Amino acid sequence: MSEGIDAQAGLDVTSFYQPDLARIVKKVRMTESMVLLGIQREDRQPLGHEPGQFLQVSLPGYGEAPISLCSSPTQLDSFELCVQAVGNLSMAVHDLRPGDFMGVRGPYGNGFPVADMQGHDVLLVAGGIGIAPLKSLIDYILHRRGEFERVIIIYGARTPSDLLFRDELDRWQAMTNVETFITIDSPTGDWDGLTGVATVPLRALAIEPANTVAAVVGPPAMYRFVAFELFEKQIPHENIFFSLERRFKCGMGKCGHCQLNDLYVCQDGPVFRYTDLVGRSEAMEVWAPEDED
Ligand SMILES: Cc1cc2nc3c(=O)[nH]c(=O)nc-3n(C[C@H](O)[C@H](O)[C@H](O)COP(=O)(O)OP(=O)(O)OC[C@H]3O[C@@H](n4cnc5c(N)ncnc54)[C@H](O)[C@@H]3O)c2cc1C
Ligand code: FES
Repeated sequence: MSEGIDAQAGLDVTSFYQPDLARIVKKVRMTESMVLLGIQREDRQPLGHEPGQFLQVSLPGYGEAPISLCSSPTQLDSFELCVQAVGNLSMAVHDLRPGDFMGVRGPYGNGFPVADMQGHDVLLVAGGIGIAPLKSLIDYILHRRGEFERVIIIYGARTPSDLLFRDELDRWQAMTNVETFITIDSPTGDWDGLTGVATVPLRALAIEPANTVAAVVGPPAMYRFVAFELFEKQIPHENIFFSLERRFKCGMGKCGHCQLNDLYVCQDGPVFRYTDLVGRSEAMEVWAPEDED
C-alpha cells in the first residue's frame, strides 16, 4: 500500500492499488513453461507473508495477476515466485532478467492454518503447479520441523519433465523425518519412480486420521478425487484445507470478481477449510465429491 498527496485536492490519499517496486535477483528456468524468480523489495524488508498467500504482480502495459508465494516466510532476505507463461503478463514476466523490476501488491489472502497443524501429522498433497504454493508451507514446516509430527508430501505431475523444484524433491526424499511420494501420470524416458495420479500413493497410506491435518493444492479436477480419499481415510472434515483459484481483479475483497456465493476467494481464501465450503453451491461445484451434502 502506498500513500501520497493529491496535489489538486490538497488531501492525503491512499492508493491500495499502487504497487511497490521489487527487483528480480534470481531467475531459474524450471521447465519449458515455468520460471522461478527470486525477488527483493526495494526496501529489502521481508514480506511477512503466511504460506499460501499471494501477491498481485504487475508490469506496466501488460496487466496484473495473482501469483502465489512459493518461498517460506522464514526466508527473510528475498522471496520467490514460480510463474507459468500462459498469457500477457506471465509471458512478459518470463522475459525479465535479474536486475529488472516488477510491481507487487500484497501479500493478500488467507494462508494455510499453520497453528492448527502444529503438534499434528501433516499430509500435503500437490498436483501440477500446485506444488508452488505448497512449497511455501513445506519449507516453513521443514524449517520448524520439531513443531510438527509426521510430515507426508505427495506430489503428482503429468510427466517427469513437468516436475518442479527438482533439487528440493531430492532433498525431501533424502530426509528421514519426511515421507515423500512423487508420482507421474504418464511416465516417459527413464522414470523409475511411482506412476499414477496423486490419489494412488494417498490411497495406500496408513494414517492416524484424528491427528492428521491435510492441505491440498492442485487443479480443480484433482480435488474431487483427493477429497474422496481423504474422506475415506476418516480425516475430520474440519482438518482438510484446499486452495481455490478464481480469476482475480483487485485481489483484496473490493471488486467482487472472484466471488463464490458469499465468499471472496481473494480475501476469504485462497485457502479454505473444507467445512467452510460445504453448503455453498458455487464453491462445491468447483470440485466437491458428488456424494457430499
Ligand atoms: C490465488 C492464485 C494464485 C495463483 N498462483 C499462481 C502461481 O503461483 N503461478 C502461476 O503461474 N499462476 C498462478 N495463478 C494463476 C495466474 O494468476 C493466471 O494464470 C493469470 O491469469 C496469468 O495472467 P496472464 O496475464 O499471464 O494471463 P491471462 O492473459 O490472464 O491468460 C491466462 C489464461 O486464461 C485465459 N483467460 C484470459 N482471460 C480469461 C477470462 N476472462 N476467463 C477465462 N479465461 C481467461 C487465457 O486464454 C489464458 O489461457 C494463481 C491464481 C490465483 C487465483
Ligand atoms: S478479486 Fe476483487 S474481490 Fe476478489
